[in-house]
Amino acid sequence: MLVLLVEDEKDQRELVADILKDHGHEIVSAESVESAIVELKNLEKIGQVPNVIFSDWKLGSLTGISLLEYIRNNKINCGFVVATAYGSVQHAVEAVEKGADDYLSKPFQTQELLLAITKANTANNLRLQNSALSEQLSEQKNLVELVGSAPCMQKVYDRIKRVSNTNATVLIHGESGTGKELAARALHKMSQRHLNNFVAINCGAIPENLAEAELFGAEKGAFTGATERKIGKIEAANGGTLFLDEIGELPILLQAKLLRFLQENVIVRLGSNEEIQIDARVIAATHRDIPELISSNEFREDLYYRLNVVPLTMPALRERKEDIPRLFEHFIQKFETQYKSKAPQLTTEQKRAIYDYPWPGNVRELSNRIERFVLLGDAEELSFNSNSTHKIDVTSGFEIPPDGLVWDEFEKDILQQSLDRTDGNRTKSAKLIGLNYKQFLYRLEKYQL
Ligand SMILES: Nc1ncnc2c1ncn2[C@@H]1O[C@H](COP(=O)(O)OP(=O)(O)OP(=O)(O)O)[C@@H](O)[C@H]1O
Ligand SMILES: [Mg+2]
Repeated sequence: MLVLLVEDEKDQRELVADILKDHGHEIVSAESVESAIVELKNLEKIGQVPNVIFSDWKLGSLTGISLLEYIRNNKINCGFVVATAYGSVQHAVEAVEKGADDYLSKPFQTQELLLAITKANTANNLRLQNSALSEQLSEQKNLVELVGSAPCMQKVYDRIKRVSNTNATVLIHGESGTGKELAARALHKMSQRHLNNFVAINCGAIPENLAEAELFGAEKGAFTGATERKIGKIEAANGGTLFLDEIGELPILLQAKLLRFLQENVIVRLGSNEEIQIDARVIAATHRDIPELISSNEFREDLYYRLNVVPLTMPALRERKEDIPRLFEHFIQKFETQYKSKAPQLTTEQKRAIYDYPWPGNVRELSNRIERFVLLGDAEELSFNSNSTHKIDVTSGFEIPPDGLVWDEFEKDILQQSLDRTDGNRTKSAKLIGLNYKQFLYRLEKYQL
């Protein structure tokens, strides 16, 4: 390792340097606190930090403590050993109190010297590990409750971090239960707006006739039942973040009004003419395929482009299976604490089944099932009917032609094609179209093929 040796007596310095060199260490020497600091700066320029500083207590008019304070104040990460004169125990105590890792009283044996250096190096390595760990922890805290470290989740975290401190509009895509709302909250918590409101509105849950007042607010008397002024969600989010959940469900009329707000940052309450300037960061989320809604005229294309400035896609749980064990532990702990009850142990086979299951309801489904498992103590809550596993979310991609079709012709055609494809091998044909042999024969007969 690299040792910075600070000793004002030349003979003593050379002696210690020789011993350390003989034992494979690299040495940089200094004869005073000042020159030690110069050496540290020189090393820093080439990206080096000594593993350990071995310093004499008395260094001219200063002491090794001055150097120790310099090191700790400047957050230079290295071990520190002080050599004190024989009998001066109070120096040793002071040095350790100020953060030295070890001390030696002169005269010392070679073995003592080597041991002290090694101890200080180990202590320093532990400090480095701890600070790396706590850095990681605080980063995770920032991302609130999002659990998972699969590469696709790292990308999500990176993007959240990157855009959290901008005002860019974010559109979060993802299947149901993938953590879209959690991601939106993380974005808010990590932004400078975190002390202001996070206002969530579920665009699919408000009746169409109330939606405008809900979003934009209404003056007293603006409509029957408006007995007092109502502040809308957008206004409530002023200074903070507005989360438009299930944006794909927003009625088309309101889409135009929302677009105007996004373009001009002003709203007008129902029953008023006054424009109110709003500063809100907008995050929207959807599990729907918006381009598809656009092509069926259910969603405005211009609004989509306004919202989709930064797209963020939450991966499905089956795309990050490596996170399942961690999420499992997370929810077990959460619900054990919440319900003050202990969940039974699972067998390896049961754990394997949890891993293999495709989780169509994603993290929400995992969470719900574990909650019931903890509550009821019954592993049945985490067992899966293997029949159901592959049928979920899979469509053939086949679309009925615009002009419709005649079922019997269609079925006959499919049967014929499967026979052609397998050179008339009935077993293979049946398999090809997912029928058992009996079902297949029955149909061949029906169409006299
Ligand atoms: N990465 C994650 N780590 C921990 N918990 C998660 C994670 N993702 C989702 N959850 C939990 O799963 C549940 C569903 O998450 P959330 O409501 O954010 O999903 P969503 O994508 O908005 O779903 P939906 O489309 O059904 O509204 C919540 O209880 C949430 O705490
Ligand atoms: Mg949601």
